[in-house]
Amino acid sequence: MKVHSHTEPFPFLFIEDLYTEEELRLIWCELDYYQSNKYILDANTNPSVTDDGKPRTRKQGNFVDNVFQLREYSNILNLSRKVLEPGLICRSDHLFQWKYFQPDVDHSLLSYYDDGGYYLPHHDNTVVSVISWLWKEPKCFEGGDFVFEDYKMTVKCKNNSAVAFPGTTRHGVTPIEMEDQHKDLGLGRYSLSHFLNFR
Ligand SMILES: [Fe+2]
Repeated sequence: MKVHSHTEPFPFLFIEDLYTEEELRLIWCELDYYQSNKYILDANTNPSVTDDGKPRTRKQGNFVDNVFQLREYSNILNLSRKVLEPGLICRSDHLFQWKYFQPDVDHSLLSYYDDGGYYLPHHDNTVVSVISWLWKEPKCFEGGDFVFEDYKMTVKCKNNSAVAFPGTTRHGVTPIEMEDQHKDLGLGRYSLSHFLNFR
């Protein structure tokens, strides 16, 4: 894991090589299962809309916290706890702004973007959001970069990396483009968002 800290234009961390090879293998077992079950990825029934009622995003997803009755049954829920380990983002050794940051509630949203997927600029109602990215190699899509709209700043997505930022900083995902033979096969862009908050 390699952590890059930034204080300007706002405090954020970019984390490369978030998961080990073995962790990735276990996470992919679960992602492939989600892709095989038409209900799970469509379980997020609360789509974000703009003020004039238009969809703000096109993607599939679910709150993984709701999929399993026991968290221990989910590789994704187990392994992704590493983003909450003290010293990384919470009680951060990397960013003085988060040195005393100790959230007491978190939720994990899995999103899957296939061809035509996007997320317009929006903010999260969180203190800090952590978003990690995963896809199958060789990469079968273009786009899907992460943009902090108000700062005209693009974070080029990298497989198995993550960004942690103040959730009220507006962010979005640029449109995904895929060739016909790659569509609807789970070869698009997964993201796992962790919403860190105080009760
Ligand atoms: Fe968001």
